[in-house]
Amino acid sequence: MAVIICGTGSYIPPCSMDNNDIAKLVETSDEWIRERTGVVRRHVIREETTVSMAARAGRRALEQAGIEAGEVDLILVSTISSNVILPCAACEVQRELGAVNATCFDLNAACTGFLLGYNTAAAYLESGVYNTALVIGSESLSNLTNWSDRTTCILFGDGAGAAVMQKGGGRHYLPVTHSNGAKGGALTLKSRHDQSVLTGERDPEELLGPEYFMQMDGQAVFKFAVRSVPQAVEEVLEANQVKKEEISCYILHQANRRIVEAVAKRLEEPLEKFPMNLQEYGNTSSASIPILLDELVQQGKVKRGAKIVLAGFGAGLSWGASILDWA
Ligand code: UT7
Repeated sequence: MAVIICGTGSYIPPCSMDNNDIAKLVETSDEWIRERTGVVRRHVIREETTVSMAARAGRRALEQAGIEAGEVDLILVSTISSNVILPCAACEVQRELGAVNATCFDLNAACTGFLLGYNTAAAYLESGVYNTALVIGSESLSNLTNWSDRTTCILFGDGAGAAVMQKGGGRHYLPVTHSNGAKGGALTLKSRHDQSVLTGERDPEELLGPEYFMQMDGQAVFKFAVRSVPQAVEEVLEANQVKKEEISCYILHQANRRIVEAVAKRLEEPLEKFPMNLQEYGNTSSASIPILLDELVQQGKVKRGAKIVLAGFGAGLSWGASILDWA
């Protein structure tokens, strides 16, 4: 038994910041950011929240699938930047959509989150536990960004993407996923609830320290990505006896143009098979894969029967790849 994606949706906040706007905040330039990352602009929340963007993306995916909210059995939201801790973002989305029959929970696997959400939903669907799943990646990274750190603030953006999944008659593919907690120090962010409230007063200034915003060893993450992602893709192709020539496109987490180019080169695949939209949105963590997938679908660039590889990588460290047939 296989799964199919029967609808996609996304939401991008209209407010955007281009590289020149960033250059007013930190010592950098449009030229440097374009050359080193490929990013030109990123969108940031104003009125929106992680939950409201997730709900809008989810609603659009359901509309495109032609599925009523009441038919959804599972809502899974992947996020590292929810505006709520309790209830979980997925339950808030359930309330917004009126998906009264859904079981809802969140997943935190950073930039690999949508891929792991997709795999989790697929396992539930394939085992017969649920029939219809709504998987969403939604991030308000602008809230977690240190806007005085030029090594990170140039990269990230906000947005949400969603996919409706159901059981399908096609082929079942095994995913490939990995984690390496020993290397987790390369990309970190401390919770603002990291100390016991029983141990005494806390200086509110302390919560503004850099460890309470995203911190990254950019070169370490870069090297990890360009080595691990091609390996995961090769592994998933091998595990499923699929040849590279059969793959129509590789939808990679959108972190950096140079990472995508390096992955294409290592796989000896043409860059045209690696669509990108990071120039417009920056790195939106777990939202990047479903936003790109939705854009390709809306533009009619994903044809029925196309074999697609999804590949995610990021904090954890975590990474992986999955294959799907577009129905
Ligand atoms: O979802 C996964 C999350 N993260 C990633 O995928 C990030 C992966 N890493 C990267 O994308 C890249 O490492 C960065 C874009 C973050 C940095 O690019 P880089 O080519 O690795 O630059 P670098 O850290 O080696 O820095 C080169 C130079 C340094 O100056 P010196 O020491 O050569 O004089 C930096 O201080 O560029 C300087 N620099 C900047 N200059 C202008 C660093 N950030 C900036 C900046 N503007 N924003």
